[in-house]
Amino acid sequence: MGHNAPDKGERNDVKNRLMVALDVPGQDDAITMAQRLAGNVGWFKIGLRLFVASGPELVRKILQTHHVFLDLKFHDIPNTVAEAIVSAGNLGVHMTNIHAAGGPEMMRAAAHAANDFPNMKLIAVTVLTSDPMPPAKARETAVQRAEQSQKAGLDGVVCSVHEVAAIKQACGDDFLTVTPGIRWGNQSTDDQQRIADPAAAISAGADYLVVGRPILRADDPATAAREAVAMMSASTPPIAIRQ
Ligand code: C5P
Repeated sequence: MGHNAPDKGERNDVKNRLMVALDVPGQDDAITMAQRLAGNVGWFKIGLRLFVASGPELVRKILQTHHVFLDLKFHDIPNTVAEAIVSAGNLGVHMTNIHAAGGPEMMRAAAHAANDFPNMKLIAVTVLTSDPMPPAKARETAVQRAEQSQKAGLDGVVCSVHEVAAIKQACGDDFLTVTPGIRWGNQSTDDQQRIADPAAAISAGADYLVVGRPILRADDPATAAREAVAMMSASTPPIAIRQ
């Protein structure tokens, strides 16, 4: 671990493809949860709730032991977004994101700013996994936004497992797909609409899986994380992207 860019070799260890969303109220809960899960996951995702509460100081702490995906979904005028990307790069996070709905000019400005930070991947949100749009429409929109993101110079997208294969077909295997909406067993879907289990995500070709509540709310989060990793390990990736 540390500050190197995540690469394909690192992803051979499947736990380095699991990102746990630290959607907890503040720094103390975040550190406690990170310690409980340490060794079972390679990444933590820091999103709006935690970043608004605890900010860059907490990000730096988590970066001492894990890769960090700073999930703030920037969506503003091109210059403001580009400046936010520079701030994320200076913080040392390994991945951050913007909304593809912000348009091509904003995405190009963000990608240009990210060029100065080769250890940081920049990805775009296509269609939120909570969006109730019909699956076929979601897939079509996600592919369009993925193509626009790639053209603008981004490294990949956030999408549901159900859109991964179509996006890989349109943009190629090296274009990253990061998939939230992961549920298994009898877990509640909560507000997610387009869900899939960890094995299905790997066999669809997802590069990284984002899991929040199924791990955070489990009686034993470390056991739940190991369960997810075991399902990921038992699954077979599509032939085209086996390493
Ligand atoms: O608790 P759950 O597993 O549903 O958490 C999913 C996480 O992924 C949340 O932190 C949410 O903000 C994030 N996310 C998402 N859909 C997107 C992008 C991010 O659910 N399109």
